Amino acid sequence: MRTALVTGASSGIGRATAIALQGKGFRVIGTSRNPSTLREDQRIGGVEWLALDLEDRASIAACAQAAGPVDVLVNNAGESQSGPLEELPLDALDRLFQLNVLGPVQLTQLLLPGMRERGHGRVVMVGSMIASFPLPYRSSYAATKAAIRAFATAAREELAPYGVWLTTVEPGSINTGISQRRTKYVAEDSPYKAECDTVIAALDRKEASGISADDVAATVLEAVQAEKPKSLYARGSNAPVVFALRRLAPRGAVERITARAFGLTR
Ligand SMILES: NC(=O)c1ccc[n+]([C@@H]2O[C@H](COP(=O)([O-])OP(=O)(O)OC[C@H]3O[C@@H](n4cnc5c(N)ncnc54)[C@H](OP(=O)(O)O)[C@@H]3O)[C@@H](O)[C@H]2O)c1
Repeated sequence: MRTALVTGASSGIGRATAIALQGKGFRVIGTSRNPSTLREDQRIGGVEWLALDLEDRASIAACAQAAGPVDVLVNNAGESQSGPLEELPLDALDRLFQLNVLGPVQLTQLLLPGMRERGHGRVVMVGSMIASFPLPYRSSYAATKAAIRAFATAAREELAPYGVWLTTVEPGSINTGISQRRTKYVAEDSPYKAECDTVIAALDRKEASGISADDVAATVLEAVQAEKPKSLYARGSNAPVVFALRRLAPRGAVERITARAFGLTR
């Protein structure tokens, strides 16, 4: 039986992915910063839990050690952040890059040797379509998701000869409630406040009417089960249409269309 480790399995996409993998016969280990405080409705029958705080290197090392051999790693846990570039506090940027990029990279480094030695492995980075369609007032989040995708894409040919495939799944707007947990940095008297609020309100509306976490989990499953997973999968927010547009239209036009779709009409 293959073992899958899903980070941030206590809610949203991680939880749906843990359930989907279990349904396909995987032994599933889910992580949460604090498994002992999970509510009954967050627990998943048969899923084992490990503590993992991606902001803490020792916690990441302990989690990898406790997990033992892992065949499938889904780097899902993450934080959403917003604010004008000019006002993003450096401490908040440090935290976001540790949580969304460096933590998942450390966990991947710790689990890759076993995958390579066993001649089989899958690592799925849960990115965001915002990396492919960068959006004003989301620069830090877009940068972390572009960074984690680049780690996976660039390293694919290092690991492929060993039967280990890295891939990225970019969700669009997914209705998980992540909007309520988004960290926001914009001053009340900021010259950017009105525009930033417009973009974030549009983002929240799109998330509330987005597709379900189960749909993204199905795409993660597709990537995990593929003999040779593609470099990039996208799901939600009309992905097939907008990625086709991105290939055809000039870069500047795509940036303007993206900003307009989130209420910036100037
Ligand atoms: N929802 C969307 O519209 C959307 C769109 C594009 C991309 N994504 C990406 O998809 C992933 C999942 O999103 P979601 O909407 O399912 O989010 P969510 O419901 O907010 O879940 C986030 C998960 O991350 C875990 N987490 C938070 N901080 C952590 C930390 N410091 N260390 C370890 N785990 C931590 C949380 O677990 P505990 O609180 O139990 O520790 C939780 O299970 C994220 O990477 C997100 O950026 C989401």
